[in-house]
Amino acid sequence: MTTGGWLDTPQRYGRISRGFHWLMAALFTWQFAGALLYVATGDNALTRFVGGGHFTLGFTLFVLVLLRGAWGLANLKRRPPHPGRLGRAAAAGHALIYALMIVVPSLALLRQYGSGKPFAPYGIPLMPARDSKIAWMVAPGDLLHYWLGFILLAVVLGHAAMAWVHRVLRKEDVLARMT
Ligand code: HEM
Ligand code: HEM
Repeated sequence: MTTGGWLDTPQRYGRISRGFHWLMAALFTWQFAGALLYVATGDNALTRFVGGGHFTLGFTLFVLVLLRGAWGLANLKRRPPHPGRLGRAAAAGHALIYALMIVVPSLALLRQYGSGKPFAPYGIPLMPARDSKIAWMVAPGDLLHYWLGFILLAVVLGHAAMAWVHRVLRKEDVLARMT
């Protein structure tokens, strides 16, 4: 079996889509490990090691999802189709994952800007220091970043479980399209 081409085809996702999928899956695993460690064990050396890059990694995931989304839209007509009612449910599930992957870091970045604290991921001076807070930018993140973050985790765990269900119970190897 060959690894196929760079572009998506109706039979399988191409190299670039697969690269985005598994790179982001690995980075999300690290991001959620840090978040869970923080919630479960509080501030300690391990949490700082895993969660210390939360802002920079979250920013990185935000940039990656925009690139991946653009690539996905450009390949939409070529991608493996999702026919039927269950297929529409799968496509809706993927759309929900995208929505959360965009909204969760967006709210945090908006809050970061509104906080007036400087933010320079990788040394890039993205947000300068400011003396005043901007309350309307901070409020949505305070309200929703935490909960939507963990909802994203739950949806993604369900997503990985569905890949397994397809393979074992329905004997359809959807996993092969992404590996
Ligand atoms: C896709 C990217 C991101 C995911 C999945 C995510 C997920 C989470 C989760 C689950 C929590 C709650 C657990 C905890 O307190 O450690 C959290 C907290 C937090 N995150 Fe993120 N985050 C992302 C991006 C960001 C970014 C880009 C920033 C800042 C620029 C940020 C700043 C914070 C802050 C300040 C908290 C603690 C306050 C709160 O719970 O809202 N996050 N994040
Ligand atoms: C062990 C973990 C995972 C497995 C086994 C897995 C498996 C798969 C498979 C088989 C597909 C193709 C489904 C189809 O064409 O119907 C897919 C697509 C997708 N997966 Fe995952 N996945 C995993 C983790 C993740 C994570 C962590 C995320 C995001 C946080 C994610 C987001 C997506 C999205 C958005 C799609 C739609 C195609 C795309 O635009 O890339 N997956 N996954």
